[in-house]
Amino acid sequence: MLKNTRKSDPELYKIVEDELHRQENNIEMIASESTVPIEVMELAGSVFTNKTLEGYPGSRFQAGNAQADELEILACKRACELYGADHANIQMYSGTTANYTVYASILDPGDKVLAMRLDQGGHLSHGSSANWMSKIFNFEFYGVDPATGLIDYDALEKQAEEYRPKLIIAGASSYPRLIDYERIAEICKKVDAYFMVDMAHIAGLVAAGVIPSPIPYADFVSSSTTKTFCSARSGMVFCKAEHAKKLDHGVFPGSLGSMHLQTMAAKCWSFKYAASDEFKAIMAQVLKNAKCLADELLAHGFDLIGGTTDNHMVVADLRPKNITGRKFQEVLDSIGITVNKQQIPDDPASPMVTSGVRIGVTSITQRGLREPEIRQIVDILDRVAMDPDNEENLAKCKADAQAIISRFPLYPAGTFDD
Ligand SMILES: Cc1ncc(COP(=O)(O)O)c(C=O)c1O
Repeated sequence: MLKNTRKSDPELYKIVEDELHRQENNIEMIASESTVPIEVMELAGSVFTNKTLEGYPGSRFQAGNAQADELEILACKRACELYGADHANIQMYSGTTANYTVYASILDPGDKVLAMRLDQGGHLSHGSSANWMSKIFNFEFYGVDPATGLIDYDALEKQAEEYRPKLIIAGASSYPRLIDYERIAEICKKVDAYFMVDMAHIAGLVAAGVIPSPIPYADFVSSSTTKTFCSARSGMVFCKAEHAKKLDHGVFPGSLGSMHLQTMAAKCWSFKYAASDEFKAIMAQVLKNAKCLADELLAHGFDLIGGTTDNHMVVADLRPKNITGRKFQEVLDSIGITVNKQQIPDDPASPMVTSGVRIGVTSITQRGLREPEIRQIVDILDRVAMDPDNEENLAKCKADAQAIISRFPLYPAGTFDD
């Protein structure tokens, strides 16, 4: 791995090698993480890194663009075919910038936007007061029904009728159930709002056709290309044909500069891979593993937000276990299981402490873990939650976690041999 860097900068080389070992030896269960195929790494480090380019095929601002044009045309074609979309723009650098480009395409400063509140499952870039978008647009927020943990569509409709937003955003960072896109699209029609779905977390599941797609219902669909899509750290936006010009203008020159052709190449490969039987089978197993995780956590006395899961993640309320999200995250990290603390709806604890945890199964499913291993992992999670300060308990849990993950290599043997 990194044979040139190993010689020229051993100090940095060691940091990267240590990270490889950390990932190899840990049970990675952060819901936004996945493991990229080796081709994604190759392409994301390819010579396209050297090329500066702005604009679109047929109207570029720099010369030397023949191969880049070919790449962008092929990637957008594959992306549209994969998702059945009219139009794709894949110049954005991340899920966050994907959202910003949609705002830049259709909103003016001061416009009203209705989005899911951060603690209810939304994302920072959906107008949280901590995010600079909140200084530009007027966000109001909807949430979930406290009794069920599900989006309260009736309340959302009432709020939309009163607030009359120009844009309604669906899609979440921490929402384990399916979203009724059709219902929200109807609400948008009623109040004459644009409808944007941020499918950052579920883009891989949607591509594989194992959960419903927002593409037929939304004006704009934004996404990260990491998370369940398992590709480069980047972004993408789809839209209906009638919005294509607006979107392209909002992306460039509206909000971004030169594109990252190296990650565009990696995404291009992934648009093909995501249509393969291999990827579809992994995504189908992600759903099975997540469901098993939910059932087992419930059986062990954890409370789940939304009651169960329909996607790749569960969100657990840890209060019945008397442990905070921060403490659970820290202790699990110390024994080789990586999760993230998570605010639950109307959480009494601060975002740095939290009462919940979000657990995802994409990475471990890619490595080959199945239901029997999920059951063993939940047993460990429970033993940690019940006795988090007992060193003997933690040592046993660590050994058990190690015994599970050591049977499932992160990458095939020899992948990084020089
Ligand atoms: C719903 C949603 N949108 C956007 C993002 C941001 O994606 P990125 O990290 O690629 O900027 C996230 C990240 O967790 C997310 O959950």
